[in-house]
Amino acid sequence: MKYIPAITVFLLLALSCNTTSTKQQSAEPAGSYIIQKKATGGNGAVVSAHPLASQAGLMMLKKGGNAVDAAIATQLALAVVYPGAGNIGGGGFMVAYLKNGKTIVLDYREKAPGKAYRDMYLDSAKNPVMALSQNGHLSSGVPGTVAGLFAAHKYALLPFAALIQPAIELAENGFPITAAEASSLNSIQKDLQQYNAVKTAFQKESPWKAGDTLHQPELAKTLQRIQNEGQKGFYEGETARLIVEEMKRANGIISPEDLKQYQAKEREPVTFSYKGYTVISMPLPSSGGIILEQCLKMTENKGIEKMGFHSVKAIQLMTEAERRSFADRAAFLGDPDFVKVPVQQLTRQTYLDERMKDFVPGKAGNSEITKAGEVKKESEETTHLSVADRWGNMVAVTTTLNAGYGSKTVVAGAGFFLNDEMDDFSVKPGVPNMYGALGTEANAIQPGKRMLSSMTPTVLLHDGKPFMVVGTPGGTTIPTSVFQSIVNIIDFGLSPEDAVNKPKFHHQWLPDVIDVEEDFPQTITDSLQQMGYTIHKRGHIGRTELIRIGEGKTDSTFMFEAIADKRGDDDAEAY
Ligand code: DON
Repeated sequence: MKYIPAITVFLLLALSCNTTSTKQQSAEPAGSYIIQKKATGGNGAVVSAHPLASQAGLMMLKKGGNAVDAAIATQLALAVVYPGAGNIGGGGFMVAYLKNGKTIVLDYREKAPGKAYRDMYLDSAKNPVMALSQNGHLSSGVPGTVAGLFAAHKYALLPFAALIQPAIELAENGFPITAAEASSLNSIQKDLQQYNAVKTAFQKESPWKAGDTLHQPELAKTLQRIQNEGQKGFYEGETARLIVEEMKRANGIISPEDLKQYQAKEREPVTFSYKGYTVISMPLPSSGGIILEQCLKMTENKGIEKMGFHSVKAIQLMTEAERRSFADRAAFLGDPDFVKVPVQQLTRQTYLDERMKDFVPGKAGNSEITKAGEVKKESEETTHLSVADRWGNMVAVTTTLNAGYGSKTVVAGAGFFLNDEMDDFSVKPGVPNMYGALGTEANAIQPGKRMLSSMTPTVLLHDGKPFMVVGTPGGTTIPTSVFQSIVNIIDFGLSPEDAVNKPKFHHQWLPDVIDVEEDFPQTITDSLQQMGYTIHKRGHIGRTELIRIGEGKTDSTFMFEAIADKRGDDDAEAY
């Protein structure tokens, strides 16, 4: 018999009444809840990596909250039901377009602690020690998520206490895990033992199996402190004390001052037009929006719409744009509060045309020859959620611990994983991080600096009206997956389902290979190899959560089509 926690039943009951959504269910059984891969409705939609999190968001829309309320509740629920990436111990970005035409960008990326320094991950022979930047206490940046949620709350309608309540109940009462979640938890048991002195909620004597209940009482208490004390319930008082105590157990360096001083920042979005659509995406300290703009603008005037989806011609063109963007990423991009990044030059059409001058259709480029552009001196595991509401608000959030379960260190007594985001810095120029991304001085470690990201939460308008919310996890494959999703819909006319689920590819300058998913058609990879490309087959690329927004029955209403990626337990809700 499967245990059905009260909250699950409550959510299912709450959502089963009064719903007008069209549901397409996955064949996979999933504990006591249902995973929906597609949902449509005229009132609002939420897509995230977990059904219980999507349902928590939808519940807020039904209670009269807007897309920001839903995004906050979904993120908090993900911190409980999707511990590999959902988090309060990590960081993220929110890109939103509000019904009054205002765009909001929130940067709640982790920061290097005050005691961090440039060569902190090098041994005495100046060789990088990746074990230190990728796991354990020293790999954690100062968490930003809770500050980000409170910064977002300014734009929400419901009390924060209500938005966090589903997360508290899920942590307290527990929830049934799926086969995928069981296998994910089983895969980190050794790491948990290695990086934790105190036993965590995620450890178990016998292997986890589908239908087991994951209880997180310490996390429930931490969430309650946040509910009662606001942001201070995390960055000061008991939670902060527990984080600092955890740091002391294994040479971690996050201090009480680092926590107290952390602030989310509002930033200006990357905004540009693409074939009549307005694309609004994440600026630095993410490279995502800039890479997206560069890639779309390098291909916009090349007739890609005539080449067709998965045509070798289109894939080659997109690959060469990606190669050039990632070369620029490595050379120029970093936290704009610390380094001057020539963003305007990097996104100018004349510069991008120049970058593509040596593109030869039918012949593979070469990353030995293609370096970063010349600009005159003048700046696995993540999760994405997309929300849209009946008023025309759109919210895209990508949030992360970096690798799955971050540093693998749980704050004892507080019950949450800390990130290993420090690895997103360039630990040494020329040394790739865990995603193979290279960096230079622009992304070197400095105290208080934010590490460069690839996360690309994005919203699109068409003729000034809400059109799409999109984003994905996937490290460096994030901007290239968002690039493909947009081109798939705008240029190739794919359905949102196909745009999300059809096999994806990726190029990131170095290593000079095209990554393709296992099920990528062989005929295409054969042709690319003949042109001179090296093909690398790999596991899944991203988990894209997309909402396409069309007109509703009247001019001022909408129809939402929410698609959850087939690559995981991801779930779409709408009503
Ligand atoms: O910020 C970044 O770009 C990375 N820390 C994201 C990591 C990620 O997407 C892993 N997920 N699969």
